[in-house]
Amino acid sequence: MPPPANPPAVGPFGGGTARPRVVGSGRAVPVTEVAAMPRTMFTDLVGCRLPVQQAPMGAISPPALARAVAAAGGLGTISVPPGGEAPADLVEQTDLPGGVFAVNLVGEGVALDTIRRAAAHVRVVDFFWSWPRRAAVDAVHAEGALASWQVGSLAEAVDAVDAGVDLVTVQGRGAGGHVRGDEPLGALLASVVAAVPVPVLAAGGIVDARSLADVLAAGAAGARLGTRLVATPESGAHPDYVAAVLAAGSGSTEITDAFAVCPLCATRPTARVLSSAVAAVRTLPEGGVGVLSTPDGEMALTRGHGMPPSRTVTGTVAAMALYAGEAVGAVSDVRPAGDVVAAMCRGADALLISAVPQPREPGGRER
Ligand SMILES: Cc1cc2nc3c(=O)[nH]c(=O)nc-3n(C[C@H](O)[C@H](O)[C@H](O)COP(=O)(O)O)c2cc1C
Repeated sequence: MPPPANPPAVGPFGGGTARPRVVGSGRAVPVTEVAAMPRTMFTDLVGCRLPVQQAPMGAISPPALARAVAAAGGLGTISVPPGGEAPADLVEQTDLPGGVFAVNLVGEGVALDTIRRAAAHVRVVDFFWSWPRRAAVDAVHAEGALASWQVGSLAEAVDAVDAGVDLVTVQGRGAGGHVRGDEPLGALLASVVAAVPVPVLAAGGIVDARSLADVLAAGAAGARLGTRLVATPESGAHPDYVAAVLAAGSGSTEITDAFAVCPLCATRPTARVLSSAVAAVRTLPEGGVGVLSTPDGEMALTRGHGMPPSRTVTGTVAAMALYAGEAVGAVSDVRPAGDVVAAMCRGADALLISAVPQPREPGGRER
């Protein structure tokens, strides 16, 4: 596979140099202010400039979102539906420009051929919701790509490394969407960082500069962002879903089995959603909740379906799977994904620098 299009930045604060940035129209314009972040094990390994991965979110993360995050310097991720076929075709269709990309494959028993075809097109193949297996990792490596596994426990992280993965993402129980484990992010991150030699990304509740700085200071090599990126123009979320995310305050999510009509929930029905959606679905009679339009036709969504509402859905959106993480209360505006990522990284960098004690003059004043 070709080398990553974004080579690792040079110098400890590699993002500080001016580079063209792709903005709304897709035009490359020179900007002098770009996100400045120290290199991490993640950025060096993957070849992107910023220590951030856009979470795969099914139809909520269409290729446009992956492209926007990759263009900003993060790792853009393409979602393949559970049991999805031909990810290579899907990747080709996305017309990927410069930037570093991952493909996400979810569920048990993804075919090795599917894995190999994905790996032939992207820098990273990213797995979730299946126990790590060496054959899957070997299939990724055979095509020259990197293997990444999102895990929910220390035991799963250790087994992922034993299976040969190049990086792991630890998902805390505050994460939006399907929640793999039971531990809060801080405790899980600390134990995994201490136990494994590969770069570790943190997932669950990273929505602003402060939360990004916190996980980097705790030893993460980067962060995966899901809920924050739902509220972007590039996300595929239905406008009512975005509105519900913006309206949500703190303490407005819960882990539920109310949306268990889903291949992932067949193994463990635990997903974090807005509590308003759980309340709404409970008042609905049995039957349909809406209709999803796809290029291949329409698909009826039954009550309790696990598919989050995208723009092509009609029906009772408020009673659908409105996946959101515990930190959703901090998401208060819709902004371009590239701006979100760049602002978070700039802010985190400033916080990390200001956290380092500055040298003092003999009189006690900072130099
Ligand atoms: C709407 C939504 C859909 C998701 N779908 C997937 C998915 O298809 N594959 C996957 O690996 N993770 C998925 N996740 C979980 C993310 O990988 C990640 O763990 C989570 O978003 C991190 O927490 P945060 O939402 O607080 O940022 C999803 C999350 C959300 C919010």
